[in-house]
Amino acid sequence: MKIHEYQGKQLFQRYGIPTPKGYPAFTAAEVEQGAKKLIEETKIPVVVVKAQIHAGGRGKGGGVKVVKGGPAEAKAVADKLLGMQLVTHQTGPAGQKVQRLYVEQGLDIARELYLGLVVDREKRRIAVMASTEGGVEIRNRGRENPGEDPHRAHRSRHGAHGISGSEARLWPRDRQGHPEPQRDHCRVREIARQAE
Ligand SMILES: Nc1ncnc2c1ncn2[C@@H]1O[C@H](COP(=O)(O)OP(=O)(O)O)[C@@H](O)[C@H]1O
Ligand SMILES: [Mg+2]
Repeated sequence: MKIHEYQGKQLFQRYGIPTPKGYPAFTAAEVEQGAKKLIEETKIPVVVVKAQIHAGGRGKGGGVKVVKGGPAEAKAVADKLLGMQLVTHQTGPAGQKVQRLYVEQGLDIARELYLGLVVDREKRRIAVMASTEGGVEIRNRGRENPGEDPHRAHRSRHGAHGISGSEARLWPRDRQGHPEPQRDHCRVREIARQAE
Protein backbone atom coordinates (compact mmCIF):
# COMPACT_ATOMS: atom_id res chain seq x y z
CA MET A 1 0.00 0.00 0.00
CA LYS A 2 1.31 3.42 -0.89
CA ILE A 3 0.44 6.42 1.21
CA HIS A 4 0.73 10.14 0.61
CA GLU A 5 3.06 12.55 2.36
CA TYR A 6 0.25 13.96 4.51
CA GLN A 7 -0.81 10.47 5.59
CA GLY A 8 2.80 9.66 6.47
CA LYS A 9 3.01 12.82 8.53
CA GLN A 10 -0.22 11.90 10.33
CA LEU A 11 1.38 8.56 11.22
CA PHE A 12 4.45 10.35 12.57
CA GLN A 13 2.23 12.60 14.68
CA ARG A 14 0.61 9.55 16.21
CA TYR A 15 3.98 8.51 17.56
CA GLY A 16 4.99 11.95 18.76
CA ILE A 17 7.47 12.66 15.96
CA PRO A 18 7.56 16.42 15.35
CA THR A 19 6.17 17.39 11.94
CA PRO A 20 5.31 20.74 10.40
CA LYS A 21 1.67 21.77 10.60
CA GLY A 22 -0.44 21.18 7.53
CA TYR A 23 -3.89 20.36 6.15
CA PRO A 24 -4.84 18.00 3.34
CA ALA A 25 -7.18 19.44 0.72
CA PHE A 26 -9.22 18.17 -2.19
CA THR A 27 -10.35 21.52 -3.58
CA ALA A 28 -8.82 24.96 -4.08
CA ALA A 29 -11.30 26.38 -1.54
CA GLU A 30 -10.01 23.92 1.06
CA VAL A 31 -6.44 25.01 0.32
CA GLU A 32 -7.49 28.62 0.86
CA GLN A 33 -9.11 27.75 4.21
CA GLY A 34 -6.11 25.63 5.22
CA ALA A 35 -3.70 28.44 4.37
CA LYS A 36 -5.78 30.91 6.38
CA LYS A 37 -5.80 28.60 9.42
CA LEU A 38 -2.06 27.90 9.15
CA ILE A 39 -1.15 31.57 8.94
CA GLU A 40 -3.35 32.35 11.96
CA GLU A 41 -2.05 29.42 13.98
CA THR A 42 1.65 29.70 13.20
CA LYS A 43 1.93 33.46 12.58
CA ILE A 44 4.07 32.52 9.60
CA PRO A 45 2.85 34.30 6.44
CA VAL A 46 4.37 31.68 4.12
CA VAL A 47 2.65 28.42 3.21
CA VAL A 48 3.63 25.67 0.80
CA VAL A 49 1.11 23.97 -1.49
CA LYS A 50 2.21 20.43 -2.26
CA ALA A 51 0.83 17.98 -4.81
CA GLN A 52 0.08 14.62 -3.24
CA ILE A 53 1.05 11.89 -5.68
CA HIS A 54 2.70 8.54 -5.13
CA ALA A 55 6.08 9.67 -6.41
CA GLY A 56 9.01 11.79 -5.32
CA GLY A 57 10.73 14.57 -7.20
CA ARG A 58 7.63 16.74 -6.97
CA GLY A 59 9.60 19.89 -6.20
CA LYS A 60 11.64 19.69 -9.36
CA GLY A 61 8.58 18.71 -11.38
CA GLY A 62 6.66 21.85 -10.33
CA GLY A 63 4.38 20.18 -7.81
CA VAL A 64 5.56 22.09 -4.72
CA LYS A 65 4.85 25.81 -4.59
CA VAL A 66 5.98 28.24 -1.93
CA VAL A 67 3.27 30.86 -1.46
CA LYS A 68 4.03 34.22 0.12
CA GLY A 69 0.89 36.06 -0.93
CA GLY A 70 -1.54 34.62 1.60
CA PRO A 71 -4.69 32.45 1.27
CA ALA A 72 -5.89 34.00 -2.02
CA GLU A 73 -2.61 33.21 -3.75
CA ALA A 74 -2.65 29.71 -2.24
CA LYS A 75 -6.06 29.20 -3.80
CA ALA A 76 -4.84 30.37 -7.21
CA VAL A 77 -1.85 28.03 -7.01
CA ALA A 78 -4.13 25.15 -6.00
CA ASP A 79 -6.38 25.83 -9.00
CA LYS A 80 -3.37 25.32 -11.27
CA LEU A 81 -2.09 22.20 -9.52
CA LEU A 82 -5.36 20.32 -9.16
CA GLY A 83 -6.04 18.11 -12.15
CA MET A 84 -2.61 18.49 -13.72
CA GLN A 85 -0.54 15.52 -14.86
CA LEU A 86 2.54 15.93 -12.73
CA VAL A 87 5.66 14.48 -14.33
CA THR A 88 8.67 13.73 -12.14
CA HIS A 89 11.65 11.44 -12.57
CA GLN A 90 9.68 8.84 -10.63
CA THR A 91 6.34 8.96 -12.47
CA GLY A 92 7.35 8.06 -16.00
CA PRO A 93 6.48 10.32 -18.95
CA ALA A 94 2.71 10.05 -18.47
CA GLY A 95 2.93 11.60 -15.02
CA GLN A 96 0.32 11.25 -12.28
CA LYS A 97 -2.89 13.21 -11.97
CA VAL A 98 -2.96 15.56 -8.98
CA GLN A 99 -6.18 15.01 -7.07
CA ARG A 100 -5.11 15.95 -3.58
CA LEU A 101 -3.02 18.74 -2.18
CA TYR A 102 -1.35 19.37 1.14
CA VAL A 103 -0.98 22.90 2.43
CA GLU A 104 1.83 23.15 4.93
CA GLN A 105 3.38 25.89 7.00
CA GLY A 106 6.40 27.48 5.34
CA LEU A 107 9.64 26.38 6.93
CA ASP A 108 12.90 28.22 7.09
CA ILE A 109 14.95 25.15 6.23
CA ALA A 110 18.41 25.10 7.75
CA ARG A 111 19.35 21.60 6.70
CA GLU A 112 17.67 18.82 4.74
CA LEU A 113 18.43 15.29 5.83
CA TYR A 114 17.35 11.98 4.44
CA LEU A 115 16.31 9.08 6.61
CA GLY A 116 14.85 5.95 5.13
CA LEU A 117 13.92 2.59 6.58
CA VAL A 118 13.58 -0.37 4.32
CA VAL A 119 12.90 -4.03 5.04
CA ASP A 120 15.91 -6.04 3.96
CA ARG A 121 14.15 -9.29 3.12
CA GLU A 122 17.35 -11.28 2.73
CA LYS A 123 18.63 -10.34 6.16
CA ARG A 124 15.10 -10.21 7.61
CA ARG A 125 15.69 -6.94 9.35
CA ILE A 126 15.20 -3.22 8.83
CA ALA A 127 18.01 -1.36 7.10
CA VAL A 128 18.36 2.29 8.04
CA MET A 129 19.59 4.72 5.42
CA ALA A 130 20.68 8.15 6.46
CA SER A 131 22.31 10.92 4.55
CA THR A 132 23.08 14.58 4.95
CA GLU A 133 22.13 14.96 1.29
CA GLY A 134 18.49 15.21 2.18
CA GLY A 135 17.41 17.49 -0.60
CA VAL A 136 15.80 16.73 -3.90
CA GLU A 137 18.62 14.62 -5.31
CA ILE A 138 18.94 11.89 -2.75
CA ARG A 139 17.00 9.18 -4.53
CA ASN A 140 19.11 9.61 -7.66
CA ARG A 141 22.35 8.64 -6.02
CA GLY A 142 21.96 4.97 -6.85
CA ARG A 143 21.13 5.80 -10.45
CA GLU A 144 24.28 7.86 -10.82
CA ASN A 145 26.31 4.92 -9.64
CA PRO A 146 24.90 2.02 -11.65
CA GLY A 147 25.61 -1.43 -10.34
CA GLU A 148 25.56 -0.27 -6.76
CA ASP A 149 22.74 -1.02 -4.42
CA PRO A 150 21.56 2.54 -3.74
CA HIS A 151 20.63 1.77 -0.17
CA ARG A 152 23.99 0.32 0.74
CA ALA A 153 25.73 3.05 -1.23
CA HIS A 154 24.01 5.77 0.78
CA ARG A 155 24.93 4.08 3.97
CA SER A 156 28.55 3.45 3.26
CA ARG A 157 29.23 6.74 1.57
CA HIS A 158 27.47 9.07 3.93
CA GLY A 159 27.02 7.09 7.09
CA ALA A 160 25.34 9.21 9.69
CA HIS A 161 27.71 12.16 9.35
CA GLY A 162 26.20 15.41 10.41
CA ILE A 163 23.34 13.72 12.21
CA SER A 164 23.55 14.14 15.94
CA GLY A 165 22.90 11.38 18.42
CA SER A 166 19.69 12.97 19.64
CA GLU A 167 18.33 13.18 16.11
CA ALA A 168 19.29 9.58 15.51
CA ARG A 169 17.38 8.59 18.61
CA LEU A 170 14.21 10.41 17.54
CA TRP A 171 12.91 7.20 16.05
CA PRO A 172 10.52 5.74 18.61
CA ARG A 173 10.74 2.16 19.77
CA ASP A 174 8.07 -0.07 21.19
CA ARG A 175 8.28 -1.76 24.58
CA GLN A 176 10.36 -4.61 23.20
CA GLY A 177 12.84 -2.13 21.79
CA HIS A 178 11.77 -2.72 18.18
CA PRO A 179 11.52 0.35 15.97
CA GLU A 180 7.88 1.38 15.65
CA PRO A 181 7.54 1.04 11.87
CA GLN A 182 7.37 -2.72 12.30
CA ARG A 183 4.08 -2.22 14.01
CA ASP A 184 2.61 -0.40 11.03
CA HIS A 185 3.92 -3.00 8.60
CA CYS A 186 5.68 -0.46 6.42
CA ARG A 187 8.01 -1.66 3.73
CA VAL A 188 9.71 1.69 3.24
CA ARG A 189 9.47 4.83 5.28
CA GLU A 190 11.23 8.01 4.46
CA ILE A 191 11.73 11.37 6.05
CA ALA A 192 13.43 13.88 3.87
CA ARG A 193 13.49 16.93 6.01
CA GLN A 194 14.53 18.19 9.40
CA ALA A 195 13.69 21.73 10.30
CA GLU A 196 15.69 23.46 12.98
N1 LIG B 1 6.95 23.19 4.31
C1 LIG B 1 7.92 23.61 3.51
N2 LIG B 1 8.50 24.84 3.70
C2 LIG B 1 9.47 25.29 2.88
N3 LIG B 1 9.97 24.60 1.84
C3 LIG B 1 9.44 23.39 1.60
C4 LIG B 1 8.40 22.82 2.41
N4 LIG B 1 8.08 21.61 1.92
C5 LIG B 1 8.89 21.43 0.85
N5 LIG B 1 9.70 22.48 0.66
C6 LIG B 1 10.73 22.62 -0.41
O1 LIG B 1 10.31 21.94 -1.56
C7 LIG B 1 11.23 20.89 -1.88
C8 LIG B 1 10.45 19.66 -2.39
O2 LIG B 1 9.56 19.16 -1.39
P1 LIG B 1 9.61 17.64 -0.92
O3 LIG B 1 8.64 17.45 0.17
O4 LIG B 1 11.03 17.26 -0.63
O5 LIG B 1 9.06 16.86 -2.20
P2 LIG B 1 9.84 15.99 -3.29
O6 LIG B 1 10.92 15.23 -2.57
O7 LIG B 1 8.77 15.11 -3.87
O8 LIG B 1 10.40 16.98 -4.29
C9 LIG B 1 12.00 20.61 -0.60
O9 LIG B 1 13.27 20.08 -0.87
C10 LIG B 1 12.04 21.99 0.04
O10 LIG B 1 13.10 22.73 -0.50
MG1 LIG C 1 12.24 15.76 -1.14
